Amino acid sequence: MKTFYATTPIYYVNDLPHIGHIYSTVVTDVITRFHRLIGEKTWFLTGTDEHGQNIEKAAAAQGLTPIALADRVVERYRELYRTFEIANDDFIRTTEARHRRGVEALIARISAAGDFYTAKHEGWYCSSCEAFYTEKELDEGKNCPVHGRPTVWESEENVFFRLSNYAGRLLEHYEKHPEFVQPESRLAEVASFVKSGLNDLSVSRSKVKWGIPFPNHPGHVVYVWLDALANYITALGFGSEDDRRYREFWDHTEAERVHVIGKDILRFHAVYWPAFLMSAGLPLPTTVRAHGWWLRDAKKVSKSVGNIVRPDHLVADFGPDALRYFLLREMAFGQDASFSDEAFLTRYNADLANDLGNTVSRVAALCRQSFGGTPNEVCTDNDVLRAYGTARSEWQAAMADCQFNRALEAIWKYLAEINGFVVTREPWKIKKAEGADSARLHRVLSAAAEGVRLSAVMLSPFVPKTSRKIFESFGVEAKDPAAADLDWGRLPVSRPMPEMPALFPRADADAYFKEKDVTTTPTTGEPAPAGPEERIAIEDFQKVRLRTAKIVVAERVPKSNKLMRLEVDLGDERRQIVAGIAAQYEPEALVGRNVVVVANLRPAKLMGVESNGMVLAASVGEAGAPVLLDVPADVPAGSKVK
Ligand code: MSP
Repeated sequence: MKTFYATTPIYYVNDLPHIGHIYSTVVTDVITRFHRLIGEKTWFLTGTDEHGQNIEKAAAAQGLTPIALADRVVERYRELYRTFEIANDDFIRTTEARHRRGVEALIARISAAGDFYTAKHEGWYCSSCEAFYTEKELDEGKNCPVHGRPTVWESEENVFFRLSNYAGRLLEHYEKHPEFVQPESRLAEVASFVKSGLNDLSVSRSKVKWGIPFPNHPGHVVYVWLDALANYITALGFGSEDDRRYREFWDHTEAERVHVIGKDILRFHAVYWPAFLMSAGLPLPTTVRAHGWWLRDAKKVSKSVGNIVRPDHLVADFGPDALRYFLLREMAFGQDASFSDEAFLTRYNADLANDLGNTVSRVAALCRQSFGGTPNEVCTDNDVLRAYGTARSEWQAAMADCQFNRALEAIWKYLAEINGFVVTREPWKIKKAEGADSARLHRVLSAAAEGVRLSAVMLSPFVPKTSRKIFESFGVEAKDPAAADLDWGRLPVSRPMPEMPALFPRADADAYFKEKDVTTTPTTGEPAPAGPEERIAIEDFQKVRLRTAKIVVAERVPKSNKLMRLEVDLGDERRQIVAGIAAQYEPEALVGRNVVVVANLRPAKLMGVESNGMVLAASVGEAGAPVLLDVPADVPAGSKVK
């Protein structure tokens, strides 16, 4: 039986999850859900990469042991996966015993093949990549090609893997299996790297302590990439007594094995990993799918660049499905894309609130208002059914090829066709002329409603929560076979339909940005630290008039989660100020507090309420939650702060 296995990269625990990690994980989730939907037996693995120098250093910097740091970050990943409904079957941590056993078994096989030897190792090392580079890969400043940061010359006695022996076999494999690296353009890149000559690879480290001890080499730990790549098979039980899953999803002629990765780690997956597996005599992955980077200001979003995007506020305000949709629709798999809140809101309103939301609510309302439920017959000859035939095959071909934006386009084109069908058939007129019992009315609405159900089935790998809501609004429960059936005609007849709130309420984008401007939370990324050229003169600071003030009135701004309307006493005057603190403070707890305000800001209107100043607050934690700065009670209101 054909099986399908998909993996995400395992994520380093020296960084909290950001948009790039979310993307890789959501993509893998979408792929696996699709294969499950078309009836394949699937397995979905993700996890964390917890060994190595970077983790050792990051933990030390925070005064933690490496494992305590890993435990913390893993919790964040688990939380994130719950939020985004990531349906992974397993989560591997490289610090687990099952992983270590598997790594030892892999090393034993490579060793038995005679592919290890010991020698002195020297080269230009990037500690962020945990990899050596040759001189020709670096720029004049000897900076790493991925991070642009300086590499250092390192020298130690190491175990080497005879990578150079595998160049021929790798090239042969690429030739025979053009599907091995996708998109195909990336394969050419990998092949040319291999053709330029492979050096043997050092696979042990003596300077690093935090790792799996290298078998038979006391004082050495396993190089973190050999350790990490092995996760794809150790998690399936390779090297343990019970390796049924490994045999089902990896070592099996009909097993499809897909690694989803970012293009930054292609070489590790398309050169080193297959070479290790060839040496060990194990099957290779079927396909390595490399996606592009999410960029901000034309740079890869990453911790080392310092332009992290954590879209927590968008998820809190618009739901995880809106972000899942945006990520998959906005980026053509394989290419880079820019992340911005503006682009997100545009798609949210146009695609989700309008195209999808309105089509679903219009068809549902017509059925409910006509019959209080689904139509009483299944219509099997109509234009929606014909449009579905085309949409389904376009969708399926695009999904199988990971062209998610194309797959979504096919669904959106189909939604427009359903809409057009409803508009031209004018069911409201049929109802008026022939009454709610009209067979014609039932047939027209059956075509539209079944059409909507099938759009929700095709959408379910992308936006599982939204699909469930659509089914529910047509009286179909999540467990009902109709929620996962791609064949026409499965919508239950005469099923009561509950009234449901809008799937994606329209967002007032202008108000949203204004509101964001006043919160102390950076909406995206952390601001770059001020460089020496950005220092300001004392006169610049003196332009800002800071004064103490007592809060006398506090009330929430209607329809806003973030904004609070304050009236403050400045000693000689009373002012209205709007502050982005409503998510953290209760109005009652604010009255009577002494705070610091910027007194000479130009007035601004926030959600229609005029604000004459700004209250200072510390921005705390990842999310930048505002914490008001207190002034001792005996300082009179209106005092100058300088
Ligand atoms: N631990 C290694 C992977 C080992 S796999 C055997 C690693 N971890 S990582 O935490 O740095 O995550 C890297 C992956 O996160 C990338 O390959 C990519 O999948 C994703 N992304 C991180 N930043 C990204 C963007 N800015 N854009 C898109 N995805 C990127 O490398």
